[in-house]
Amino acid sequence: MQRIPEPEELMDDAAQAQAYAEADFSEANQLFVELLERLTKAGAQALSLQGRLLDLGCGPADIPLMLVRRHPQLTVDAVDGAPAMLDLARQKLAAHPDDEPRIRLMCEHLPCPGLAAHGYDLIASNSLLHHLADPGVLWQTVASCARPGAEILVMDLARPDSATAVDTLVERYADGAPPVLRRDFRNSLFASYTPTEVEDQLQRAGLNQLAVTQVSDRHLAIAGKMPF
Ligand SMILES: C[S@@+](CC[C@H](N)C(=O)[O-])C[C@H]1O[C@@H](n2cnc3c(N)ncnc32)[C@H](O)[C@@H]1O
Repeated sequence: MQRIPEPEELMDDAAQAQAYAEADFSEANQLFVELLERLTKAGAQALSLQGRLLDLGCGPADIPLMLVRRHPQLTVDAVDGAPAMLDLARQKLAAHPDDEPRIRLMCEHLPCPGLAAHGYDLIASNSLLHHLADPGVLWQTVASCARPGAEILVMDLARPDSATAVDTLVERYADGAPPVLRRDFRNSLFASYTPTEVEDQLQRAGLNQLAVTQVSDRHLAIAGKMPF
């Protein structure tokens, strides 16, 4: 099925951002955190993730919050280009004063060359790739911001084969959700990439060491370690 890009890259409409922040993405967020812990062996060996993590397209900061609560030695720079979304992230962090100091919210519209100076230990991104007009922006950011040996995890939707398959997923996962959320989920499924398209993107960005895997009926994970 032909890809249809998102109408807008950023989620900066207040009603849209609010509906997203109020939705229950706990299943996908849990999957993301488990994949990251598995990748870094933190889960299996009860090790703690450490160092500085960059979350690209952090939205309402649910994943950064989950991560710092589970890993006391982790700090997160959480980047999003939409002020409306970051306002909601700020409100969520304010409700968790013990965790808030380890998450820095940054309003940046990628590409953002200034981020590269930090040399992050981990780079994470959930559900940003399909929003980007140029997907290469994400991979260039990953390549420039990761320190040698950094762990990378990007998760996103996988484009279904047909409009019927899109509708099935919308019914399965957004039944009863507010219309704005159903519309956004539908748009996102049409805008997402297939595994082959993502592999081509990685090839072009020189990130062949990252592997693409289908990790649920609607999600792809792109994961691996940067070379030393
Ligand atoms: C679907 S949300 C995902 C939010 C979060 N990662 C999560 O898993 O809940 C995608 C986010 O990426 C942000 N975004 C889209 N394009 C961006 C860009 N070029 N630079 C920075 N943020 C961007 C949007 O504003 C939105 O908040």
